[in-house]
Amino acid sequence: MELRTSKRMDRLVPSGIRKVNEKALAMERNGEKVLHFELGRPDFDTPEYIKKACILALEDGDVFYTSNLGNMELRQAVAEKLVKENNVNYCADEILVTVGLSEAVFDTLCSVLDEGDEILVPDPVWMNYLNVPKLLGAVPVTYSLREENNYQIDLEELRSKVTEKTKALVIVTPNNPTGGVLNRKTLEGIARLAVGENLLVIADEIYERLIYDGEKHISIASLPGMKERTFTLNGFSKAYSMTGWRIGYVAAPKEYIAVLNKIHQHNTTCAPSFVQRAAVTALREENNEVDEMVREYEERRNCAVKAINAVPGLSCLSPKGAFYIFINIKSLGYSSAWMAEYLLNEAKVALVPGDVFGPGGEGYLRMSFAAGMETIREGCARIAGAVKKLQDGNV
Ligand SMILES: Cc1ncc(COP(=O)(O)O)c(C=O)c1O
Repeated sequence: MELRTSKRMDRLVPSGIRKVNEKALAMERNGEKVLHFELGRPDFDTPEYIKKACILALEDGDVFYTSNLGNMELRQAVAEKLVKENNVNYCADEILVTVGLSEAVFDTLCSVLDEGDEILVPDPVWMNYLNVPKLLGAVPVTYSLREENNYQIDLEELRSKVTEKTKALVIVTPNNPTGGVLNRKTLEGIARLAVGENLLVIADEIYERLIYDGEKHISIASLPGMKERTFTLNGFSKAYSMTGWRIGYVAAPKEYIAVLNKIHQHNTTCAPSFVQRAAVTALREENNEVDEMVREYEERRNCAVKAINAVPGLSCLSPKGAFYIFINIKSLGYSSAWMAEYLLNEAKVALVPGDVFGPGGEGYLRMSFAAGMETIREGCARIAGAVKKLQDGNV
């Protein structure tokens, strides 16, 4: 029978990251040893104190639907965290608990974008911010994040992209895939623009804890006039190494939360009850578990950045946040897609072509350093060997 799927779905492109991953897994099934740097997935186990809280919740029989908005204790814990760590005065009524930040993106964009609305989105960026607006019939209009600008936003360019159809603006800091962290000056400029042009701001802060060199994460909602127009999106996947638990949240004025809750109800009803209980513990009983992981990431980053910059023809900035290095391959003269394919076939190293994250990513490869130090060393050595072979014309 012919497939009778909606035309709307034709607007969604499958994840380019998963495509690399699937090919790498198929190679492994054929007995090849591939080194994985493609997924944005911490390699640490979830800290023990969080797992124990989840087991306890299950043993307590915490196995039923919670309020759609989320368990009140978790909403309170999230609000307290936002007050204490992010300097924004949220209360529990302003928090919606979601199934990962991915659902938070979907609920937020569904709630604010009408067909034909424009939304300003960084280029390059994590693809959901391009795909979900398209699914909704809205138009993602990209603004550049450039290496030569240290991946800060060019405020003049951003301003030039605003039209009477622009409804919202997305920022992701620290950023996937560049690892860039927006500084206060840039954030203040964005805030002025948002207030002046009456734009909503969607701030993805999933990597806020993964930050290096003493850099500080600043929540844009904490700047004057911004809380009322900002959706702060965050979750537990990256900081607490809980990607499989699927838990996140949106913080926004409560009138917006009520609207988001309508789509959330129809979409997922609520996040899993026992996972919500464990998330309360993650926030309230954390000692130095996250800081230790961050210290380890920073060492791995230093190792990977040094090794990549030592390869003739490759270069990268040292990322201030997240766990990606964005490798500049422009001088080699090959496309990102070709180079990623070549390195996978030749060196058995899985990296993501930068153009997967938008046209601004062309000429780059994304390498995740959420991998063990030995894997990073071995991976960089394999990359160096394959690049040399290419330059020597032995391919
Ligand atoms: C910028 C960004 N936001 C959100 C997510 C997804 O978060 P979650 O696992 O909470 O859905 C990712 C995952 O890679 C990401 O890179």
